[in-house]
Amino acid sequence: MTLGLKKIYGFIFLLAQGLFSLYLPLAAQARLKHLGLNTRLPEPRDGDWFLAHATDLHVGQGLKHRDYGMPGFLDSLEGLTGGVGTQRLNELIEKLNAVVREGRKVLVILSGDLTDSGELSEFMEVRRKLNGLSVPWVPLMGNHDTWPYTSCEDEAPAALGDILMTKVFGDVFDTLKQYFQFQGDQRLKPCPDPLSGQVAYLQNFSFSLQGRRFIFLDFNPRYHVRLNEPGIGPEVCLHAQDCGTIGFLEKQLQEARKAGAKVTLISHHPPQVFKIFGKHYAFSRFQKKILKSLLKRYPGVADSWLCGHFHRSFRYKVAGVRVFETGANIGRNGGLVRWFILNNNN
Ligand SMILES: [Fe+2]
Repeated sequence: MTLGLKKIYGFIFLLAQGLFSLYLPLAAQARLKHLGLNTRLPEPRDGDWFLAHATDLHVGQGLKHRDYGMPGFLDSLEGLTGGVGTQRLNELIEKLNAVVREGRKVLVILSGDLTDSGELSEFMEVRRKLNGLSVPWVPLMGNHDTWPYTSCEDEAPAALGDILMTKVFGDVFDTLKQYFQFQGDQRLKPCPDPLSGQVAYLQNFSFSLQGRRFIFLDFNPRYHVRLNEPGIGPEVCLHAQDCGTIGFLEKQLQEARKAGAKVTLISHHPPQVFKIFGKHYAFSRFQKKILKSLLKRYPGVADSWLCGHFHRSFRYKVAGVRVFETGANIGRNGGLVRWFILNNNN
């Protein structure tokens, strides 16, 4: 073979390899289509998954006495239970099971404030109720879940919510791992938190469904935000240390881009700046700037972000990512679900 022919064959081989590598990512992408809030769902087709996003259950809220279950925050489920948060969770579960009875495959995502004050009894009540759900569900921690308390006089000595999450939902994750491919999981890895001086178990993890990567992010501080209030308060902490949340997000975006996977981000806090009388209720301007510059380094990789926290239903874009804030389940008679459909063909 002449040198000229070798060059031509070599060029054709490289071109074919390049086209193939372009084809692989495209083949793996599944589109996430927004359907709406408490909406009628289309008939299921083969391969369809329906994604149900609910948030801010606040189980424990609605009782005259703020101490759920037995006295104290490391308590049990005997004693005082019920309340509006629990009632609305029952309604949510009934709503979701009705959809499943119609023959749909559903994945439920719960984006934080599962409990009202992070008491063990409240977590146990959430678990007891969600055991009645006949489809997989994924719990994420919100700011109300992070630092257990029963009243201003009785709160945990530290942000123990991540430990309670594992105590109550640990086996839920073991089961999820049998059905979904997890790419990352920091929940059980101790991560020293320089701002609190404590060890945190950041609730950052990711898994794939239909080739799409779902990345769950923990922006809850572990330090006590407002000393005159129990719990941690609503502001965001990026957890910028090596084992922290921003580092986890960057690594996950890198991997997803390499695999050609589209990404949906899930956090309790929305990627928004909200400041009243000097107090931050989500990201600060500086934190949002860091977040936006990170997302912009991976254009087109993350295309959607599901969150709660502000108890309102809003849609907007941040750094090209469609953000879906969903209102609180506790705030709507009958419960509140934001629906999506996930399919390679839609
Ligand atoms: Fe909330």
